[in-house]
Amino acid sequence: MSESRRVFFALWPDAATRSAIADYTRDAIVQAGGRAIPAENFHITLRFIGMADAGKIKLLEKAAGRTFARQIQLKLDRLGYWPEPAVYWLGCRKAPDELLRLVVNLNAELGGLGFPPEHRPFKPHVTLARDVANASAGELEIPLSWTSDRFALMESLGGADGVEYRVLKEWPLPAVD
Ligand code: 2AM
Repeated sequence: MSESRRVFFALWPDAATRSAIADYTRDAIVQAGGRAIPAENFHITLRFIGMADAGKIKLLEKAAGRTFARQIQLKLDRLGYWPEPAVYWLGCRKAPDELLRLVVNLNAELGGLGFPPEHRPFKPHVTLARDVANASAGELEIPLSWTSDRFALMESLGGADGVEYRVLKEWPLPAVD
């Protein structure tokens, strides 16, 4: 049996986007309280998978390689709070069509390779803080732009100091001609 890893697909921002998100949300996060997520962990989960051994990871890579999608222009313009997981997040008033297309196509390819369907609705968000007792949601007048030209298979590594993420593999999202 090969070693299993906890994996998920994500849009993984580059360093400039990560620090832009951190600058953009700093005050809101301080106000919300709770446990702030370090900027190096900011991302949007496309599809959570869970534990996967080497064979399963090969299949995940195959599905991702077959997934067709284009570059995604995100406009992050909404702060939200989910009381149940106690999570404060940054997202979009309207998710871009290209993002939804990527997730639909990725899920279809995963289904074709035997992965069970995802029943939870896709709610694209960047988690900003956890264990938040209460926080105000709101729309942001000036959106933060994030152009994503790739998506990634990520590994989640839990340690005594909290979670760390590692890119296992990335696939390009080409620009529209
Ligand atoms: P969250 O940030 O909203 O908690 C890595 O753990 C990523 O996968 C996180 O973005 C997390 O979303 C998401 N995630 C973790 N466990 C999950 C689960 N059981 N179902 C769906 N998404 C999950």
